[in-house]
Amino acid sequence: MSTSDPERETVPSRHLDLTVNGRRERIEVEDRAVLADVLRDQLHLTGTHIGCRNGDCGACTVEIDGRIQKSCIVLAATVDGCAVTTVEGLADPDEPLPALQQALWEADAFQCGFCLPGHLFSLRVLLDETPDPTEEEVREALVGNLCRCTGYVNIVKGALAAAARQTAVPQ
Ligand code: FES
Repeated sequence: MSTSDPERETVPSRHLDLTVNGRRERIEVEDRAVLADVLRDQLHLTGTHIGCRNGDCGACTVEIDGRIQKSCIVLAATVDGCAVTTVEGLADPDEPLPALQQALWEADAFQCGFCLPGHLFSLRVLLDETPDPTEEEVREALVGNLCRCTGYVNIVKGALAAAARQTAVPQ
């Protein structure tokens, strides 16, 4: 029978250097830690939400070196040297809301806010690549983001309003 105390066993860890929302960070993380937990627990960026922990719901979505990813299935150790943007990095509290967030706000699309990171990051990519999407394209872009309020109607409405503003011809 082993006499070792599992509580006292050393958990392998390493230093990470990364940029989060434009700010350089140097932190120590456990090798087994996922990025979502590191963002929330060590960097206190609690806008990154955790729903399913298996890559299904999208609440933990962040951008890593320009690509959106679900941070609950990304080992923190793999983002050494990367630039990470969380939902907090998508707006400046001292500035007016960006057009997409403003349109979602006006459409009452934020609802409880839990799924917001995934919807925002997905819609940013959509509107960047397809400035004037159809409703079907908006719905397609949101696949992989689960709204627990089941209020997709307002999210789609807000996304289409943001697209319309983005493509409006100035008078
Ligand atoms: Fe990451 Fe659901 S918590 S996808």
